[in-house]
Amino acid sequence: MSFQIVGTGRAHPEFVLNNDMLSQIVDTSDEWIVARTGINTRYVSTHETITELSVKAADNALSKAGIGAKDLDLILCATMKGDYACPSLACLVQKEIGADCPAVDLNAACSGFLYALDQADAYIASGKVETVLIIGAELMTRHLDWTDRSTCVLFGDGAGAVVVRKGHGLKSIKITAKGDDELLVIGNTFCPSPYGKQPKLDPHFRMKGGEVFKFAVTSVLRDVKDVMKMAGVEVKDVKMLIPHQANQRVFQVAKEKLGFSDEQLAMGIDHYGNTSSASIPLLLDELIEEGKLKPGDIIVMSAFGGGLTTGACVIEL
Ligand code: ACO
Repeated sequence: MSFQIVGTGRAHPEFVLNNDMLSQIVDTSDEWIVARTGINTRYVSTHETITELSVKAADNALSKAGIGAKDLDLILCATMKGDYACPSLACLVQKEIGADCPAVDLNAACSGFLYALDQADAYIASGKVETVLIIGAELMTRHLDWTDRSTCVLFGDGAGAVVVRKGHGLKSIKITAKGDDELLVIGNTFCPSPYGKQPKLDPHFRMKGGEVFKFAVTSVLRDVKDVMKMAGVEVKDVKMLIPHQANQRVFQVAKEKLGFSDEQLAMGIDHYGNTSSASIPLLLDELIEEGKLKPGDIIVMSAFGGGLTTGACVIEL
């Protein structure tokens, strides 16, 4: 397959929101949130824009890759909503970091980073480009109903970036979609028009948690098995499984059923919450920085989310 990860970066807001603070605005408790989700704290934007966080993560990844913005052939931003509907987040990042390559956003909700990796693979394999900057960025707290305890405790904000270059690190990748507007929804808002009625959609994040939970467990089990088989790797060959950080219970079940050990399971939900498409690249950069992942290690990444979408891959770092 087509690429190697050559640099990673991350950025998050300064403000840390803990569970006790949330229990002052909704009927919840630290005990409930920790037991049901694994989340202790999350970063929440008070002033940082999604563009600022993405640029910071991108600069970080470029400097670790040892390349300049002008070396990039393509920028892909996985996000549900940038600061503007137009220009795209990717175009604003391109401007701020001083790149001159094509740049585009893609929306696959929490699976966006895996979708972007898949697109980078296709572009690089076709010979069209050699170096791609991929960013997963989301300010989920912009879309929350802060009176709804079943959702407002789950999310945080952040951006993660990777630079990938033509190489042989990617061993297998798959993405899936199953259109659904019942289980997990964030409505768009529209300007009034004198010529017709606009749909009035709820702009808040709404989720049928129990059903999404079942979908998440089923898809992680299926996708991880599939990509490991495609890559010809076994559990003992894998240094770490990095699942989308949506709920600790989802990946504990997946870990046990797939036969991974505690040491092989990457965990960042405790301090990030669910950061949607940013969750995997944020954690990847952290694990590399902490020396827990090194060149040559084999990792499995698996994501699931709105759409409904899923994605998974096996990569040798
Ligand atoms: N504090 C206290 N009690 C709460 C809270 C809270 N924050 N939220 C819900 N409860 C209550 C409910 O009201 C319910 O009370 P009741 O029994 O009196 O009716 C009880 O806790 C149990 O509620 P459930 O919804 O059944 O709780 P569950 O154990 O399913 O946990 C959760 C809910 C955490 C949302 C879980 O279902 C989940 O994580 N689902 C998967 C989410 C996911 O993976 N999302 C990924 C995609 S996100 C994306 O794409 C952007």
